[in-house]
Amino acid sequence: MIQSVECYVKNIVREKVNELLKNNHSIDYGRRKLVIANWKMNLPHEDITQFLKLITDIEIQDSVVICPPYPYLLSIKGVIEDLSLKIALGAQNVHWEEKGAYTGEVSATMLENIGCEFVIVGHSERRMSGETNEMINRKVVEALSKGIQPIICVGETKQERELELTNQVVKKQVTETLAEVNDFSRIVIAYEPIWAIGTGESATPEQAVEVHKVIRTTLEEISGNMGKNVPILYGGSVKASNARKFGAMEAIDGVLVGGASLVVDDFKSIIQAFV
Ligand code: PGA
Repeated sequence: MIQSVECYVKNIVREKVNELLKNNHSIDYGRRKLVIANWKMNLPHEDITQFLKLITDIEIQDSVVICPPYPYLLSIKGVIEDLSLKIALGAQNVHWEEKGAYTGEVSATMLENIGCEFVIVGHSERRMSGETNEMINRKVVEALSKGIQPIICVGETKQERELELTNQVVKKQVTETLAEVNDFSRIVIAYEPIWAIGTGESATPEQAVEVHKVIRTTLEEISGNMGKNVPILYGGSVKASNARKFGAMEAIDGVLVGGASLVVDDFKSIIQAFV
């Protein structure tokens, strides 16, 4: 009896995953506008369908990615399909190994199996708990090998900025997290100054552009022409009230948004600043 219930559940899960994979739409690669929501450990599950329903009334052109907590990924994928939303799904982290005894971790294969197209790696909140450039690099390589686009976060602390080390720190982060990478067509970089994350004090668009130029030059140094197409986003206290200023900058291809992506009207205004 227990076995047949288990088989029944497995079959339902398998069918659902196959159905989702069939319907999986893909975003075009290359330099493009991207607005990415990093929901972190927020938003109760029951609020999500309502949230997604409320963004159906604005135009979204394959430019929006939502990164919810792991347990919601599959059900959100279902809601996105049901509402025919042109929104892609991203995870907030991934492990670098394909499988094994890694309690609490999730592999790129698992993310790929449920139709996840993006994954955030190297967020400063994870670097703070010991994630190094080398570990992030392994995650990037593993994600790419499964066709998932890594969103690599880089950025300096307040102290590093005050010591005028920003360019040096960011250049090192970009170079080391992209070691051994040959396929730049699926890379996304997010410049997120740590002092601007969740503080309400964003960088100015001019400060962001200056660092974006350093990142672009670094990408071109390590990848030649391929680096020209990598989208470079800004993140750190992006709000409805400042999104247009970032959107007006040629060097800023989009934004990675935390707090303001949880408020549907604010998130809609931010999306509209980039379409
Ligand atoms: P914030 O977070 O928009 O709340 O500053 C950004 C991020 O952590 O990616």
